[in-house]
Amino acid sequence: MANIRKQNAVATEPSEAQIAVHWREEEYYYPSARFVGQANLTDPTIMERFREENFPECFREYADMLDWDQYWHTTLDTSDPPFWKWFVGGKINACYNCVDRHLDKYKNKAAIIFVPEPEQEAPVALTYRELYVRVNALAALLRDFAALKTGDRVTIHMPMVPELPITMLACARLGIIHSVVFGGFSGEACGRRAADSGSRVLITMDGYFRNGKMIDHKASAEIALNVAKQEGQTVDKVLIWRRHAGKYASASPMVKGRDYFVDEVLQKYSGEVVDPVSMDAEAPLFLMYTSGTTGKPKGCQHRTGGYLAYVTGTSKYIQDIHPEDVYWCMADIGWITGHSYIVYGPLALAATSVIYEGVPTYPDAGRPWRIAERLDVNIFHTSPTAIRMLRKAGADEPKKYHYHFKHMTTVGEPIEPEVWRWYHETVGKREAVIVDTWWQTENGGFLCSTKPGLDPMKPGSAGPGMPGIYPFILDEEGHEVEAGSGKAGNICIRNPWPGIIQTVWGDRERFVNQYYRKYCKNPNSKDWHDWPYFAADGAVLASDGYFRILGRVDDVINVAGHRLGTKEIESACLTVPEVAEAAVVPVVDEVKGRVPEVYVSLQPGLEPSQEVHDKVLKAIETMIGKIARPKKIHIVPDMPKTRSGKLMRRVLAAISNNLHTGDISTLANPDVVDKVREMVQGKEPVAVKEGPEDVKRFGTVD
Ligand code: WTA
Repeated sequence: MANIRKQNAVATEPSEAQIAVHWREEEYYYPSARFVGQANLTDPTIMERFREENFPECFREYADMLDWDQYWHTTLDTSDPPFWKWFVGGKINACYNCVDRHLDKYKNKAAIIFVPEPEQEAPVALTYRELYVRVNALAALLRDFAALKTGDRVTIHMPMVPELPITMLACARLGIIHSVVFGGFSGEACGRRAADSGSRVLITMDGYFRNGKMIDHKASAEIALNVAKQEGQTVDKVLIWRRHAGKYASASPMVKGRDYFVDEVLQKYSGEVVDPVSMDAEAPLFLMYTSGTTGKPKGCQHRTGGYLAYVTGTSKYIQDIHPEDVYWCMADIGWITGHSYIVYGPLALAATSVIYEGVPTYPDAGRPWRIAERLDVNIFHTSPTAIRMLRKAGADEPKKYHYHFKHMTTVGEPIEPEVWRWYHETVGKREAVIVDTWWQTENGGFLCSTKPGLDPMKPGSAGPGMPGIYPFILDEEGHEVEAGSGKAGNICIRNPWPGIIQTVWGDRERFVNQYYRKYCKNPNSKDWHDWPYFAADGAVLASDGYFRILGRVDDVINVAGHRLGTKEIESACLTVPEVAEAAVVPVVDEVKGRVPEVYVSLQPGLEPSQEVHDKVLKAIETMIGKIARPKKIHIVPDMPKTRSGKLMRRVLAAISNNLHTGDISTLANPDVVDKVREMVQGKEPVAVKEGPEDVKRFGTVD
């Protein structure tokens, strides 16, 4: 923080590493003998095999779980740091590995079970053979009808239906780079991503069920196309899946020569078989846009060989997936968790992967447990937000249903030990082992987690680094923070690994600046030891080697486990003509972890009004989506600023969360702080309480 302190003139604040973080050391929980007896990973020498002396060759163990068309000659090429290359010289097809190679043994086994949201619609199982048939027909359509070829990008804006993984796999079969945009993102957000990726084709759906209603989804395609066009990208084909084939559920008109119903066009390609294209291990497999510190989302570019090897290895060892398991990850495929741990990892291992269309609490909080009982799910994967939500809505519901999980995952946000214990005791019925997996969109797969059959669990802590991942904590000056010191710092990874992104799509500089600039020891070095990866998360390392993740140290807000950029939300606010300045800060929320709260000041002479409030809300929902909806919008007379004019988001975050505002005497307008506090908290000052690290530090790290 030293350099930042200079810029921000908040010299009285302690540096992050000096902040001692106190929390009760939690007790260990141990996996049952029953779990261990069947686990994929029980060999305690794993950490030996993956220790630094054996790096990078240790990762052969993951790559060897795949079928390669041509074996690689170089496991890790570090000639162009930090653009690492993995399994160089290897050739492989991701779709072949997730589908074709299972046909001999598992053609009649369910690959995907789709659970529609309306409960009266029965679940639908797709066997591996059926998946193969559907993926092939669609691949033929993409190639021959949409004229897509290897290396082209395609934007996919779809809900949670089996046609989504089918589309992804058909792309992978041909080496087409898919860019799936979360279905809940608005048309505008989709359009900007389509433009950035240079997609000529958009694949979407007419509608889907959510919370008991059919959502008109095709309408957002029109907006997406307009926005893409404004940004210079013409999308000339829109392929529309229909939720019910033959029945169009959208009010949005079809445009002749541009819009096509996939189910209609597919008839011509039914039964076609398309050879999987043998791809370089380093060929991009997909883009996944994620929020960062600027207003522009970055296209995280994942490679084929390294990514697939990493998600397969971690699915096998950490998710403990066997082909006979029924595995349900409740995330959305439109996020990285869904890509890695609903689609690519589980299918590469011939698992049965469950896809649920709707919201977990529809029609009531017993729904997930009824699904688990009906499908006999034995591996369950979700986020702390979903766990908190289900606990709040029906803490005793799991007891009513006869399902048995052997394994459960929590991912995406820190989990409170108390919530962890409910997950363990009530959802897991004390039978299931839990892994708390820490990782990011950029990482491809897990970075920290306990190994379920080997390590004890500790509520609230993700655990040690994964095999072959060497995490450590650095302070702002780049000194290592010792285990057991109780001091927080920035969690970094010392080494490259196969799941890390190749680059940010079209922006090499941003890739280097974001993840490697901060702690690079020597920019001319070709030795990976000089290039630690900066994750932008705060963490504490206990003396047992377990990492406890504290949350983001940058301008990203983790809302219900979804990453939102403050700058993206602020840009949306600034499109309202009345708004002069906007600042977005995180507020602690009992269920969603954090939610954004918005501060705007108006152009000179304008008075606050409900109308402006509503315009700001609408701008956020149309430009990003309902997931970014703020808890509150405050129209303030002015923003707290430093003398150099920097907007002090940290001070606003403190006000929104009832925390000490810290030293404000160096601000250009300290009197504004009191005015704003009174507006937000009322005349009676609210008791100051302890706040979480990410909120306390918000906006202090650039
Ligand atoms: C947070 C999601 C605590 C973290 C896979 C990270 C977590 C961001 C955990 C990435 C966890 C993820 N405990 N925090 N187990 N897992 N996070 O890119 O702040 O959507 O930087 O990837 O989520 O979010 P993303």
